[in-house]
Amino acid sequence: MAHNVILLGAPGSGKGTQAAKLVEAFGLSHISTGELLRAEMAKESELGERVSDTMQQGRLVDDQTVLELLVANCDLASKQYIFDGFPRNLDQAKMLDDQVVKDFPTTALYLEIDLEKLTKRLINRRSCSSCGEIYNLLSTPPQKTNSCDKCGGDLQQRKDDTESVVKNRMEVFTSTIDPLVKYYDERGILKRVVADDHPDQVFAAVEKLLG
Ligand code: AP5
Repeated sequence: MAHNVILLGAPGSGKGTQAAKLVEAFGLSHISTGELLRAEMAKESELGERVSDTMQQGRLVDDQTVLELLVANCDLASKQYIFDGFPRNLDQAKMLDDQVVKDFPTTALYLEIDLEKLTKRLINRRSCSSCGEIYNLLSTPPQKTNSCDKCGGDLQQRKDDTESVVKNRMEVFTSTIDPLVKYYDERGILKRVVADDHPDQVFAAVEKLLG
């Protein structure tokens, strides 16, 4: 596939899940600003300490910090990317265009789903601490409790996947998504996907749109 993909969607809409499938099917590189920020927190770097409270409250980290982290971790001259979690607002979308993606062809894929279904999804999410594989205790549970099917690593729950923090994350999403969708729609690069079906069916729709 000769273009980058921007994944838009609410917390829990399946951006990470679909990104993993896109990596496997199309060989794109996955860059998640949430993952990059969590890695900084795990390292207890200065940046990690600075963003920790904001992330644990489910609010957005400042644009410049996230942009710098993104730029430091991607190389568009030699790779095509799935941008997961960036942009989160109109200013970030313009930054992505002007300073990162520039003239590289890009599609924005919006995973649409009724927000009321997402809290349950998120509080039941578990991720492998070793390879990052994503599970859901309700829809895609691991075969052995707390152990990754792929690598045997320990499964963990994200600190921001609690009911009260999820509520804040949803509020942030609803207050920022409309201008973003309009921005990509007006540029003619927006594609919408129903994100309510089984992950494999969602991916079949994604493949059709990008193929
Ligand atoms: P980030 O890590 O980007 O989190 P998010 O956007 O809230 O999205 P999630 O990772 O929670 O969900 P997802 O859509 O990837 O769903 P997943 O596939 O895992 O951001 C976290 C924080 O970092 C932010 O709150 C902010 O503080 C900061 N941040 C990050 N980027 C930033 C930026 N650009 N600017 C400022 N701050 C930033 O799936 C969820 C669950 O559902 C899993 O259990 C999965 O198995 C299950 N599932 C997936 N698809 C389906 C399906 N079709 N059916 C049933 N279950 C499914």
